[in-house]
Amino acid sequence: MEKFKILEEKRAQAKLGGGQERIDKQHAKKKLTARERIELLFDAGTFEEIGMLVEHRSFDFGMDKQRILSDGVITGYGLVNGRTVFAFAQDFTVFGGSLSETHAEKIVKIMELAMENKAPIIGLNDSGGARIQEGVKSLGGYADIFYRNTKASGYIPQISAIMGPCAGGAVYSPAITDFTIMVDQTSYMFVTGPNVVKTVTNEDVSAEDLGGSVAHASKSGVTHMRAVSDVDCINRVKQLLSYLPQSCHSKPIDQEYALGDEVIESLNDIVPHNPNQPYDIKAVIKDIIDEDSFMEIHEDFAENIVVGFARLAGRNIGIIANQPMSLAGVLDVNSSRKAGRFVRCCDAFNVPMLVLVDVPGFLPGTDQEWNGIITNGAKLLYAFSEATVPRISVITRKAYGGAYDVMNSKHIGADMNYCWPSGEIAVMGAKGASEIIFKKEIKNSDDPAAELLKKEQEYSNLFANPYSAASRGFVDEVIEPKYTRVKLIKAFAMLQNKSIKPIDKKHGNIPL
Ligand code: HXC
Repeated sequence: MEKFKILEEKRAQAKLGGGQERIDKQHAKKKLTARERIELLFDAGTFEEIGMLVEHRSFDFGMDKQRILSDGVITGYGLVNGRTVFAFAQDFTVFGGSLSETHAEKIVKIMELAMENKAPIIGLNDSGGARIQEGVKSLGGYADIFYRNTKASGYIPQISAIMGPCAGGAVYSPAITDFTIMVDQTSYMFVTGPNVVKTVTNEDVSAEDLGGSVAHASKSGVTHMRAVSDVDCINRVKQLLSYLPQSCHSKPIDQEYALGDEVIESLNDIVPHNPNQPYDIKAVIKDIIDEDSFMEIHEDFAENIVVGFARLAGRNIGIIANQPMSLAGVLDVNSSRKAGRFVRCCDAFNVPMLVLVDVPGFLPGTDQEWNGIITNGAKLLYAFSEATVPRISVITRKAYGGAYDVMNSKHIGADMNYCWPSGEIAVMGAKGASEIIFKKEIKNSDDPAAELLKKEQEYSNLFANPYSAASRGFVDEVIEPKYTRVKLIKAFAMLQNKSIKPIDKKHGNIPL
């Protein structure tokens, strides 16, 4: 009985982490504790903790007198909506959640378990970084984690929730994972903090402005999503999981769906008659997919392309769509990076892709050229070209120039390409094209403006429609918008057993 008592005492001690005072401090900052977060993440009563009694092995700086069971990180596994998931949650109440050698070993242990058992891993990050008292042992621990993150990449889903500080080299673990979610106001990520920035560049910037959720959601694109609170953050992690499979060796779990007639009349009225008038591609997405099933990724970053997960007749799909409401839907450096990363994720985890195309081309300018639109546009092109999951395009309006090729064209391996009658598939817009190829006729005409209009009309009649592409089979079918959902449901069902053998090479050399 005495032995049971010792065990009970140790458990109680571990559960108290850094003590009630620090727990209260955590709550005062509107943050939950690591254990509260774990409770929220897992189905009630299913979490099994591993390594609760682990202690650090440090002696320097009086650390031998300050051992706290679990050593600042809760690790284990359990069920999330009935599926096995592994997780670690850093406990800020214990040495500021800092990463010691043993703290890292605990994380590595469950990463290995997650990989061996083909199940997702979730990291709930809240840490002051490397355990300063441990020096290089802590740095080595980080590298051990980065190495596993890389091995696990594309093998099991990895999601990082940033629920407090995440600074220095610590940021590179979340950066390698598939998705990062940051909590507003209480989280920040940066390689070097405001003090170092001030010393090196003389800039005055707050932690929030430098690396808070808003900065990373809208400026850098480092975070895929913002959450308004810890609870919201955990709910988003669970929602993300629902679109992803256990590993690359399985498919996402589809939902039951009873087919109706699936004709959506409102789709016929979304694209404006005037080709230069914008419309909201999210309205198209909403009408095509199952009700309330869209989970947008990178909502505030590179808004000229929309990406996210959704369901179509219960089937999990990834959506990549040009957004005419922002920069007319052009492809630029950031939208290419954003979409390229999402395409890679869908392909790695067997999520079929729907691509909605309305793209006037690539954004011109020195800013774009000097920031590498060539290399970055190539990332998206490469990502689509290499993807072996079912992929279907619907051209709603413009598909111009190189962007036509890049946006999941038939030529780079799309399985089915549909086009609405409003589609315009051409090297460029009618006006620009006419100005170039009819330059002399227009210049020599008595009325150049009228001549340009006439030539524009001629060009439009020939190319600003889907029929030239359809006559060559580059478009499989021209469809009335209202039948889009019906067509897609059937086509994705037809493609569900698609299998392509990769060619025998070590790996490609994606233009990173
Ligand atoms: C050891 C740490 C710690 C750390 C915080 N603590 N960070 N202990 N190593 N890295 C301890 C504090 O001493 C304190 O202990 C407790 O955690 C809470 O910290 P506070 O400072 O009271 O909290 P707060 O005011 O909220 O500030 C949080 C913070 C700050 C901004 C994170 O603690 C801080 O600046 N910490 C140092 C951050 C840092 O420089 N880390 C190293 C980065 S380099 P007591 O006992 O007083 O409660 C790095 C390299 C990684 O991480 C490279 C990987 C390749």
